[in-house]
Amino acid sequence: MPRLPPSVAIGMCLLLGLCLPVATQSNATLVEGVIDPVNRYTVNYTIPIQPFPGLLSNFELRPDHGENSYVGTGRLIGRRALITGGDSGIGRAVAIAFAREGADVAINYLSVEESDAEEVASAILSSTSRRLIRLPGDLRNETFCYDLVSRAAEELGGLDILVNNAAYSNISLDIRTHSMESFNQTLETNIYAPFSLSKAAASILPAGSSIIFTASGIFQSPGPALVDYASTKGFIVTLSRALAAQLAPRGIRVNAVAPALVLTNFLSTQGMTTEAMRAIVEATPYGRVIQPVELAPVYVGLAESAATMVSGSLWSASGGQG
Ligand SMILES: *[C@@H]1O[C@H](CO)[C@@H](O)[C@H](O)[C@H]1NC(C)=O
Ligand SMILES: *[C@@H]1O[C@H](CO)[C@@H](O)[C@H](O)[C@H]1NC(C)=O
Ligand SMILES: *[C@@H]1O[C@H](CO)[C@@H](O)[C@H](O)[C@H]1NC(C)=O
Ligand SMILES: *[C@@H]1O[C@H](CO)[C@@H](O)[C@H](O)[C@H]1NC(C)=O
Ligand SMILES: *[C@@H]1O[C@H](CO)[C@@H](O)[C@H](O)[C@H]1NC(C)=O
Repeated sequence: MPRLPPSVAIGMCLLLGLCLPVATQSNATLVEGVIDPVNRYTVNYTIPIQPFPGLLSNFELRPDHGENSYVGTGRLIGRRALITGGDSGIGRAVAIAFAREGADVAINYLSVEESDAEEVASAILSSTSRRLIRLPGDLRNETFCYDLVSRAAEELGGLDILVNNAAYSNISLDIRTHSMESFNQTLETNIYAPFSLSKAAASILPAGSSIIFTASGIFQSPGPALVDYASTKGFIVTLSRALAAQLAPRGIRVNAVAPALVLTNFLSTQGMTTEAMRAIVEATPYGRVIQPVELAPVYVGLAESAATMVSGSLWSASGGQG
């Protein structure tokens, strides 16, 4: 095999990400306004185990959805957004960020999650002059999905952002005993609902609108326990890309977000113990769990009008981990 000149070898090694060591400790002092992602959250979080859909009131220490930390800079002034699963987790962080960026927001959630939705309303109404509309209901009902989109548009005076974020999962380690009812609920919530919502939204979204899907890094590296959930996330990634191609000529952008493990209500319904969560996140490059608020800038960036050429993209994981 021919020997490559050192400069070419180093260039190739950088290109392929094969250079070792990958990280060296820098002693540089952080400049004001620059945040070190590794050390932003140093708290050793615990996670409760609770049945679906879970409530934030069962957390000993709340995840950060930006209630006291997200500061907007006017990136979504005048925009109108519908967010499913907007009462907690990623959806709550996105609702708060969108409102702080100047958007009016409608959130959907299950009626048993009303106490979580009330907290979103108070976080938004106490800090902004934006509107927050609560539209509870079960997305497994196709008619409800169509009604939800038209009611959101009616209440907000139009709609130009749809965030398909709500999801269901029921852990199962053995396909032989995997309940078909549970499988059905996963598909109805994670596949049929976003499809119906996007279908309804496509009829009313003006050019310049944005549809955003919450996928998950799990679609690339599925484990043994979330077989149906992981598969629906793969579907969502492909749906998002296909819709991006279909809706591009109409000026509607479509993107998906596929994060690694995020500290959410949803996670607390997946039978994951605090020890299991810590073991997983310790193996990630950042070595810690993602807080919902840390994903908010991604959704804001995908929604904002300036992102005219951002469509068909997948924002994947964080810290390089799938
Ligand atoms: C950082 O500081 C330590 C201790 O002062 C020193 O040993 C190390 O070489 C420094 N690293 C860099 C990258 O400057
Ligand atoms: C977090 O808690 C676990 C269990 O108590 C402990 O082993 C670990 O060292 C702690 N990590 C940090 C960063 O405090
Ligand atoms: C489905 O949604 C529609 C519209 O919101 C509602 O009228 C109907 O009662 C719902 N069906 C069920 C079974 O909840
Ligand atoms: C969740 O899975 C368990 C075990 O497979 C099953 O007993 C239960 O009925 C499922 N839950 C739902 C809502 O289908
Ligand atoms: C899934 O469940 C719904 C009720 O929620 C039912 O109408 C539908 O027929 C079920 N589909 C399958 C394939 O079992």
